[in-house]
Amino acid sequence: MEHFNVKTGHLPSNLGQESLYQVLPEVKKAKEHLLKGDAAGNDFLGWVNLPEDYDHEEFCRLKADAQRLSAKSKLFVVIGIGGSYLGARMVIEALQSEFASMVRGEKPYIVYAGHTLGEDYYSQLLTLLDREDYSVAVISKSGTTTEPAVAFRIVKAHLEKKYGKEEARQRIVAITDARKGALHTIAVQEGYPMYVIPDNVGGRFSVLTPVGLLPIAMAGYDVDQLMQGARDMRKVCIEKETLEENPAMMYAAARNVLYRSGVKVEMLVSALPNLRYLAEWWKQLYGESEGKEHKGLLPHSLSITTDLHSMGQYVQDGERLMMETMLHVKQPATHVPVPTDEKNLDGINYLVGKSLTEINDCAMQGTIEAHVSGGVPVLELEVERIDEYVLGQLIYFFEFACGLSGYTLGVNPFDQPGVEAYKKNMFRLLGKPGF
Ligand code: PA5
Repeated sequence: MEHFNVKTGHLPSNLGQESLYQVLPEVKKAKEHLLKGDAAGNDFLGWVNLPEDYDHEEFCRLKADAQRLSAKSKLFVVIGIGGSYLGARMVIEALQSEFASMVRGEKPYIVYAGHTLGEDYYSQLLTLLDREDYSVAVISKSGTTTEPAVAFRIVKAHLEKKYGKEEARQRIVAITDARKGALHTIAVQEGYPMYVIPDNVGGRFSVLTPVGLLPIAMAGYDVDQLMQGARDMRKVCIEKETLEENPAMMYAAARNVLYRSGVKVEMLVSALPNLRYLAEWWKQLYGESEGKEHKGLLPHSLSITTDLHSMGQYVQDGERLMMETMLHVKQPATHVPVPTDEKNLDGINYLVGKSLTEINDCAMQGTIEAHVSGGVPVLELEVERIDEYVLGQLIYFFEFACGLSGYTLGVNPFDQPGVEAYKKNMFRLLGKPGF
């Protein structure tokens, strides 16, 4: 497996190796629960074996559908919310140019819907869809979630008006439950190509199913490499038994030790702006898995150096309630040197010859030193680079560690009873029959 390391050298001395080893038996027990399926939530463990145990015929069909739709689409509308869109968005935004919406290549550009009810968002989207050829993936495990259902109704009506009912049918793919839900019924009646979200994989663990893979393939990225990275990480997470060899066990142990010491907030910190959706996906994964029974670290994120100029003061000097997990990517995909300037009026000639990555790395190391001295425990997560393979590693690592961490915390990491509360109120306020 490629270099992938969780470093604990910046934890306070009273929470070092000894504390990590004290929690190790609980993490091992949690691992047993994940592998034997003998604890709460055991009907949602399908993701554990996904990188090895997936439908190869469906995987090939998915790549063929992605190619077929790419050939006739400039835009691809991905409709979904929460676990039904964040995984795909994380991978796509990590890999595409930050300016992809303005500098379009051969592959379709992905736009999102169903994750918001903002009215202006939809009128702006429809204006865009008037101009561009597009196709649609509508994704909902339950098939009954209001936001994507409303978005799909709006986009489907536009698509049918633009292309006619028959061609619209050729431009829609539905990803949903195998048997039930309104989306399943629509897809069967309209004859849309359909992909199934396995019963035993919850939304936030579903990026390595068609939920994530179809949009990622449509955007032109290598889903084989993504699965390979996940497969290699799975082997390490499952086979290695020590904290030093198993990064997921180390991460789960460290965050539980810190939580028990009084830390309330974990901030995932990255120095690369294209990883902001990795943080959004991670927030859902950990927040929805652990935030139960009035327990759990609150997941938050920072992008440095950007947020050091807004949140830096609080982290350095505000209430002591947080830890940081610094995601350090060692190699950039490209290099931009600082050019020389004879006059040196800006006074930065001392940086000439250094790459931006060297400067960014110094900013990260400087931040770590400052925050540690300000009383913030810091974990470092070090990866070689960002590509499909490493993103596959990261996905599986964070998922497996989340299962370990949730069981160690003493909650069922695989349900989300709290998500229902707002829906009941919304339905009552909207006058939905039965509410
Ligand atoms: O992780 C989860 O379960 C949620 O975030 C769901 O993914 C989200 O609510 C969307 O649900 P559905 O796919 O059923 O539309």
